[in-house]
Amino acid sequence: MPATKGHVLVTGGAGYIGSHTCKALAGAGYVPVTLDSMVYGHPWAVQWGPLVEGDLRDADLLDSVFALFRPMAVLHFAAFTSVGESVADPGRYYDNNVGGTIALLEAMRRAGCATVVFSSTAAVYGEPVVPGAPMDETHPLAPVNPYGRAKLAVEGMLADYGAAYGLRHMSLRYFNAAGADPDGELGEEHDPETHLIPLAIGAALGTRASLKVFGQDYPTPDGTCVRDYVHVADLARAHILALEHLGAGGAPGSLNLGTGRGHSVREVLDAVGRAAGRPVPHEAAPRRAGDPGLLVAAAGRAREVLGWAPEFTDMDALVATAWRWHAAQAQPR
Ligand code: UFG
Repeated sequence: MPATKGHVLVTGGAGYIGSHTCKALAGAGYVPVTLDSMVYGHPWAVQWGPLVEGDLRDADLLDSVFALFRPMAVLHFAAFTSVGESVADPGRYYDNNVGGTIALLEAMRRAGCATVVFSSTAAVYGEPVVPGAPMDETHPLAPVNPYGRAKLAVEGMLADYGAAYGLRHMSLRYFNAAGADPDGELGEEHDPETHLIPLAIGAALGTRASLKVFGQDYPTPDGTCVRDYVHVADLARAHILALEHLGAGGAPGSLNLGTGRGHSVREVLDAVGRAAGRPVPHEAAPRRAGDPGLLVAAAGRAREVLGWAPEFTDMDALVATAWRWHAAQAQPR
């Protein structure tokens, strides 16, 4: 038996979901090679294989990485991820998220690497056509911001490269990625932070301001937004399954990754309060522009195609992993 199953190039491997996936890759017998600009990535997050620092649009660098490591496949996470910033500065988003992907796919063609798993998003759907109904992969694709439109453009490119050049591809449409490595080796750290769970934990720890609850009058049971929070370790595992599915000649396509269950902002705050042993300081605030009331995945197709099912289906268990990570970071070192 070979010592490893081979190298896998992980763009954005120093980021939140990318780094958790590198750990899962190493656990499954692969060597993850991280390529990251380190604009938002963290050196401490790269623990399971080499780090190459650089930009995806640097064709010479990409050629040298493919020549040196001969990766059998690419997991493509590298992207800017702030929806609000994408509205304010779409050029930067299309350049990095679409332009970077074109450069990557062309380098893959030159190197003869023909398998890619892409970090897509529920933002490719836009507003639910039937408000409140779970969205499956046949839901109309009508993103409402440049972030979502850039992700959808890449999904289209992958299909075109598949038809023309034989690229094997899978786009994984995450709902709300959340939680931290259950072993406590990795966690979520964005700067600036905009996501609900890290902000709520920071408010409970006293390291951040009181949490603003954006909108109280949505047509949901308690008036606050409902989202489908899926654990980052479950997302990581789905990437390995997608890689192996494509490696075994499985069909390309796009799959939702969610739990199929929604939780309101208030429910999340209650779970964080239970993990913290004290209530999360919070206050009512106006709706945030662009937030739909309810986004929940119909997640059956990933189960059928990949045999994937989330292990973290309980909000308290999910939040506990994030709490442990953030509480440890808040300790003086
Ligand atoms: N929220 C608050 N207060 C905050 C932050 C968030 O009430 O301080 C609420 C939001 O209104 C939303 C929910 O908490 O209802 C979750 O917000 P996040 O910012 O954590 O996540 P989003 O649902 O906005 O974004 C996620 C991903 C994006 C993706 C988007 C659409 O982070 O990458 O889903 O699918 F584009």
